[in-house]
Amino acid sequence: MPEPVLSLRDLTVEFHTDDGIVHAVDHVSYDVYPGETLGVVGESGSGKSVTVMSLLGLVPQGRIMSGQALFKGRDLLKLPDKELRRIRGKEVAMVFQDPMTSLNPVFKIGDQIAEALQAHDPGLSEDDARTRAIELLDLVGVPQAPRRAEQYPHEFSGGMRQRAMIAMAIANQPSLLIADEPTTALDVTIQAQILEVLRAAQREMKAATILITHDLGLIAEMADRVVVMYAGHVVETADVGTIFHAPRHPYTLGLMGSLPQVGRDDEWLRPIPGQPPSLINVPPGCPFHPRCALSEGRIECRTRLPELAPVDGEYHLSACHFKHELRERSEELLRHMEGIA
Ligand SMILES: Nc1ncnc2c1ncn2[C@@H]1O[C@H](COP(=O)(O)OP(=O)(O)OP(=O)(O)O)[C@@H](O)[C@H]1O
Ligand code: SF4
Ligand SMILES: [Mg+2]
Repeated sequence: MPEPVLSLRDLTVEFHTDDGIVHAVDHVSYDVYPGETLGVVGESGSGKSVTVMSLLGLVPQGRIMSGQALFKGRDLLKLPDKELRRIRGKEVAMVFQDPMTSLNPVFKIGDQIAEALQAHDPGLSEDDARTRAIELLDLVGVPQAPRRAEQYPHEFSGGMRQRAMIAMAIANQPSLLIADEPTTALDVTIQAQILEVLRAAQREMKAATILITHDLGLIAEMADRVVVMYAGHVVETADVGTIFHAPRHPYTLGLMGSLPQVGRDDEWLRPIPGQPPSLINVPPGCPFHPRCALSEGRIECRTRLPELAPVDGEYHLSACHFKHELRERSEELLRHMEGIA
């Protein structure tokens, strides 16, 4: 494997609230390699967004307790605000579920993209920025780009706004694109179009992408590798085929239990019996143990936190004390989960 674009190690983020300390992200480590799409999946509240937002300095209430986020040799967590802001608009770009988080309602779309270009390239003339903004709108499939560039965000439909946001995100040719539920708010046909745009943008920029989503169909279609998160921890990571066909963590196995249906447009994370734990009172030992069929009668699961360690080769990691048993017991465990669902 080449050098990662981003190498995240032991990131721990807490929120200090009136109810107690929320352990939102707990020693999270993962790598993103050049040109790849890394899918990040996990139930709501598992820390997918806080992880990426923290490394860009976008979680002011969160306390970063430990960690390192090496991006092109520099630790993002140690950079002064000004440096981080520069990296944010240029080398790392984000696409969110709601485009209005990055579009300003009072400025014309074309002007906003032109301004994003000029902010990072002060030598760029007004005219050139404008031309480039229109080219970008055209690239992301906004029809009649010269005319639409003169319009305000509210004159754009949801799907068109999403395209405009992608145009803005890729304006400065980022080497890392972070897409957090980029299509969740859109209807299915528009979703497919936006994904195509994202893919084209990624090809054009040769950017690495972190794709955060609940949608396993999307992961199957877009991701090269997958990180599975549970209760603020990474519990498994592997290439996409392995995650779907040979998972080595009981949580992943539960998520993938509905494999034959993957690819259906409405395929979302499969519900696993029980609830994710409170992040204020995370269970001792393995955080998944209260819901884990494999933990029955095993003290270790209740007392010792499993570390993320290789299974079946260097790039397939699982955080389960009994990961090697899964190969033999997968079918049985799935039946067990169905039984108590
Ligand atoms: N400002 C905050 N104060 C307290 N807790 C927070 C704050 N922001 C996030 N959290 C908590 O941190 C945990 C992780 O949240 P995060 O948004 O990363 O989850 P997620 O995996 O992205 O979920 P979703 O799929 O719903 O987007 C959640 O339990 C959330 O409630
Ligand atoms: S360590 Fe134990 S509780 Fe955790 S996933 Fe593995 S078997 Fe289940
Ligand atoms: Mg989120």
